[in-house]
Amino acid sequence: MSDRQTAPFGRRAAPVIVRERHGPYVVLRCEDAGGPRPQAGQFYMLSARRRWGGGEAERPFLPRAFSVLRAPPGGRELQFLLEDVGPGTRRLCELGTGDGLLLVGPLGVGFKPPREGRAAVLVGGGVGIAPLAIWRDQLGAADVLLGFRDRARARGAGLIAGATVTTDDGSAGHRGLVTELLERRLAGDAGALVEVYACGPPAMLEAVRRLCERRGVPAQLALESGMACGFGACFGCVVATRSGYVRLCVEGPVLAAERIGAAALSGGAP
Ligand SMILES: Cc1cc2nc3c(=O)[nH]c(=O)nc-3n(C[C@H](O)[C@H](O)[C@H](O)COP(=O)(O)OP(=O)(O)OC[C@H]3O[C@@H](n4cnc5c(N)ncnc54)[C@H](O)[C@@H]3O)c2cc1C
Ligand code: FES
Repeated sequence: MSDRQTAPFGRRAAPVIVRERHGPYVVLRCEDAGGPRPQAGQFYMLSARRRWGGGEAERPFLPRAFSVLRAPPGGRELQFLLEDVGPGTRRLCELGTGDGLLLVGPLGVGFKPPREGRAAVLVGGGVGIAPLAIWRDQLGAADVLLGFRDRARARGAGLIAGATVTTDDGSAGHRGLVTELLERRLAGDAGALVEVYACGPPAMLEAVRRLCERRGVPAQLALESGMACGFGACFGCVVATRSGYVRLCVEGPVLAAERIGAAALSGGAP
């Protein structure tokens, strides 16, 4: 299989079939009749047909990047998980059945299968659980560790069967950080036989990166950076790697942890 599924040229319409609420998160399920099936970890640039590029404060003008949450095999449906954090996500969260969603994708490079003999451990934080859902579907078996800020957000864990959950405030699941669960999972000999896949806030990814580096465990990290185009034209998404700057939308968003240092996760120089 190629390391990426490429997007058809141009933006296309993918009408919303259903909007679901999971605590403060929204899942948009849409019908993408014209696109190829995405690989886990790839993303789409989304915008709405109406009220985009105008209205309140005249934002947003640009589409926004979203990981694919699920793409049921053999169908045309795509699912996205959204958290309302600004004008773009708010407008997308307001879309309902039949509304016009516009997308470009699938874009970028997703997750690669675990190396021979290694079991997959998936680690997600907050809305960063999105690419892990489709990856869990494709892998069939994996340990899934998910961390959320509080009980309301922990309802997002229902999107991935069999997940072990932590909350920062202990209001659901284990109290503490999801990386504490990962540290326990990696302790001992069994930990050496895993490959870690992670997506979440930069501080969580940096903790995962350091833990895995210390124990010599391979890890693939799904990173984020501000993206204006999503396909390599604007250079807005560059991150620092150990071998220089890369465009995250072209070489990522999933990067092998050994390619990056702490700087890639803090926006600093390599
Ligand atoms: C490859 C990729 C996949 C993503 N997948 C998802 C997803 O599945 N679900 C989801 O809800 N969001 C996802 N995002 C993040 C989403 O694209 C941004 O949060 C988006 O900018 C929100 O747009 P907005 O107009 O609502 O808010 P904005 O006005 O753009 O931003 C609101 C706030 O978020 C901060 N912010 C914006 N973008 C980022 C970023 N990339 N990293 C850190 N902080 C940021 C801003 O500084 C601001 O404080 C993804 C981003 C990337 C690059
Ligand atoms: S988002 Fe434009 S080059 Fe990556």
